[in-house]
Amino acid sequence: HSSESRIQCRPEPRSSFGIAFDIDGVILGGRAPIGGSPRALRKLYGASGTLKVPFLFLTNGGGIPESRRAAELSEVLGVNILPSQVVQGHTPFRNLLRRYENELIVAVGKGEPALVMSEYGFKKVLSLDEYASYFKDIDPVAQYKMWRTKQALDCSSHLKELVPRYDVYSDRVSAAFVVSDPVDWGRDIQVLCDILRSGGIPGWENGNQPPLYFAADDLEYQAAFPSQRLGMGAFRIALESIFNRIHRSTLEYVSFGKPNPFVFKNTEALLAELQPSQFDDHISESGCSQSHDFKTLYMIGDNPLVDVKGAQQAGHPWFSILTRTGVFKGKDNHKEFPADMVVDTVEEAVDFILKREG
Ligand code: G3P
Ligand code: MG
Repeated sequence: HSSESRIQCRPEPRSSFGIAFDIDGVILGGRAPIGGSPRALRKLYGASGTLKVPFLFLTNGGGIPESRRAAELSEVLGVNILPSQVVQGHTPFRNLLRRYENELIVAVGKGEPALVMSEYGFKKVLSLDEYASYFKDIDPVAQYKMWRTKQALDCSSHLKELVPRYDVYSDRVSAAFVVSDPVDWGRDIQVLCDILRSGGIPGWENGNQPPLYFAADDLEYQAAFPSQRLGMGAFRIALESIFNRIHRSTLEYVSFGKPNPFVFKNTEALLAELQPSQFDDHISESGCSQSHDFKTLYMIGDNPLVDVKGAQQAGHPWFSILTRTGVFKGKDNHKEFPADMVVDTVEEAVDFILKREG
């Protein structure tokens, strides 16, 4: 290496620590900021608006593409959040692209689950709403429902029968993805049971269960209502209990999201990518010791069984901070999964970190 390239090895303001923020119960309560979150985040930027401390959002929630979630968060929190700073429960689904890229898949949940999957590159994806609308009478209580799905509205406004975009009557569903919290549990459980027990075509005889993926497995989470709400894990239990009663073999599924250790490993890599990048990865080979390793990574969460457990299982360099603005409301630490630090709000957590890191 030339001496010029060595000169570029001057110390760089890389941060030795990073932060992962949980969203529901820490940053937001429903749609509104809580715990002084906008102020807390502003403290992580320098005077010129540059990011001083690498941070990202690590949520088990979702339902809209990361780019849109980043724009929404920027709006409510008053700082500029990049799509690369948003990790949602379903973000790891993109790693399954090669397996299902051209296969018919269904996407379940609130928001725009099919759009989420299309943005990851999946070519033949239908929301469960749209999929169900192609099967007449699949929901025997649909007429009693006071709401209309987007598909039903489109159909009546154009006064035409729905024509499936794919041959759903002979093309098997290769996999079902629960992207976000399901809206119509009854209909969704019914149609998922139809797909899963028939081997991918509702109404057909029993077949092999197509793979089923959940973005997360939160039993309960904190939204705007004072007590906790049933989450995707609760839906999973409902679906599983029913499926196992009506089908000969037990339901098989894979859940992503926190507290899986691989989520935290992946977050570590994403935080490293948010660091200033004028150095190449291999520059250390030239003798400049430029490490990507963080001394400490902070997980600020509200759910001991999800956020704290996950950080604990991930081990070094994770340090867990539990707030009292969400699922956890105890006076002392959580008994089973005690955090490294308990504070009232996310702002207190950030103040603690900045002081500790001095
Ligand atoms: O539906 C969202 C919920 O399950 C958890 O969100 O941000 O607390 O991980 P979060
Ligand atoms: Mg939370």
